[in-house]
Amino acid sequence: VNGKIEIPVVVNVLYRTAAENISDAQIQSQIDVLNKDFNALNSDFSQVPALFSTVKANVGITFVLDQVIRKSTTKTSWGTKDACKKTTQGGLAPTSPTTKLNLWVATIGGGILGYAQFPGGSSATDGVVIDSKYFGTVGTATYPYNLGRTATHEVGHWMNLRHIWGDATCGSDLVADTPTHNTANYGVPTYPHYSTCSGTPVEMTMNYMDYTDDRGMYMFSLGQKARIDAVFAVGGARASFRN
Ligand code: ARG
Ligand code: ZN
Ligand code: CA
Repeated sequence: VNGKIEIPVVVNVLYRTAAENISDAQIQSQIDVLNKDFNALNSDFSQVPALFSTVKANVGITFVLDQVIRKSTTKTSWGTKDACKKTTQGGLAPTSPTTKLNLWVATIGGGILGYAQFPGGSSATDGVVIDSKYFGTVGTATYPYNLGRTATHEVGHWMNLRHIWGDATCGSDLVADTPTHNTANYGVPTYPHYSTCSGTPVEMTMNYMDYTDDRGMYMFSLGQKARIDAVFAVGGARASFRN
């Protein structure tokens, strides 16, 4: 109505151990991080280098915890093929996926922190899966992925953002105002980190769509915001989230 997108969030918790049955406080801590990161309210936003000050963005989307659904299981890990979303495989089907963002919190395995479904996929599997050890900022949240940025990154994918290196050497993320990155960056790169790609630009390693540690990522760009806005616009793949 007022043009602001406010996204109800359903959190599906699948647990075998007590630790995997994360607390309501840990869940709320993740919602809080999403609200900060997507509204340029994160305390590290001020660390964005001056070089990127004209492109750093307030995406302006808010998240509201709608409900938490918990299910006890015997599975030790769920993998990345959507088993956690299927009742036939012991998981939990999404709740109202065309109007609510479903998050699954479970042990994924294989060193995977999280994964997301891009816009345009099946509603039966729509949403984001995050390993419980990398969800939120308290409880079982584990360094260096203990600042809730796995969900920020995965929700970025859910909103149609690509990896900043375009999943290829000097690849494209289809966003003009992000520099071309040589490849994924890990840890916390020292600024300035130069790309080896055409023009050797300074890489935007602090972008949420890179692969750095949580404390190394703290911005979206205006071009990324434009891609997100297009997804939620009338006629966009996630227009059903408009209210
Ligand atoms: N899909 C990526 C992975 O599992 C997520 C990376 C998130 N990065 C982060 N610093 N939390 O590896
Ligand atoms: Zn990713
Ligand atoms: Ca780019």
